[in-house]
Amino acid sequence: MTRIISPSILSADFMHLGRAIDMLNASQAEWIHIDVMDGMFVPNISFGFPVLSAARKVTSKVLDTHLMIVEPERYIDRFAQAGADLITIHEEATERVEAALQQIRKAGARTGISIKPATPVDRIVPYLPQLDLVLIMSVEPGFGGQTFIEGSLDKVRQLREAIDRTGCSTLIEIDGGITVANAGAAFEAGCDILVAGNTVFGSEDPTRTIEQLLNA
Ligand code: DX5
Ligand code: ZN
Repeated sequence: MTRIISPSILSADFMHLGRAIDMLNASQAEWIHIDVMDGMFVPNISFGFPVLSAARKVTSKVLDTHLMIVEPERYIDRFAQAGADLITIHEEATERVEAALQQIRKAGARTGISIKPATPVDRIVPYLPQLDLVLIMSVEPGFGGQTFIEGSLDKVRQLREAIDRTGCSTLIEIDGGITVANAGAAFEAGCDILVAGNTVFGSEDPTRTIEQLLNA
């Protein structure tokens, strides 16, 4: 079973983003999670292309890009050009999921779909053969530092079963409210990748916290 930690720079100190990325480069985190918000799909605005391309220049880690934007197909090519290795769109954000996934692939990135806490897993099962990753939101998207929604692990188990049944190699990522205390249960439920914002960047020793999450 894969175990990857993807720290979300949404919770980093933006005045010292370079230092945060240097820390991640030297850590056991294999991926870096980039939360893009448009103020429409979610009630918050974060950052976009300039931050992504700045990060791209200083890291060779996988840039795991989570687009919380409506009609993501409008911007997929530009995120790929800015250096996204993996582009995750929301199932709820477009009527043209299939076309968007093809567009991601064509742009040379790996494909991901995310679902909000209220969206059932069944909705993304038909896309599994085209997906490198499914991202289960374990908080309402929009803000870091929220509390983990307990039922999320049932969705992970359900998804794990569907993936095993179809024989796909799609990875499962979970995002929102991950702590050192619940990370072990998330891996056990079938997650391959844990996103962690506040737990990593709110820690006294982020490098050590990443290690603790990995070995939870
Ligand atoms: C929320 C974002 C998350 C968030 C996670 O909309 O998608 O990636 O930054 O933050 P924590 O780990 O603090 O819940
Ligand atoms: Zn995210």
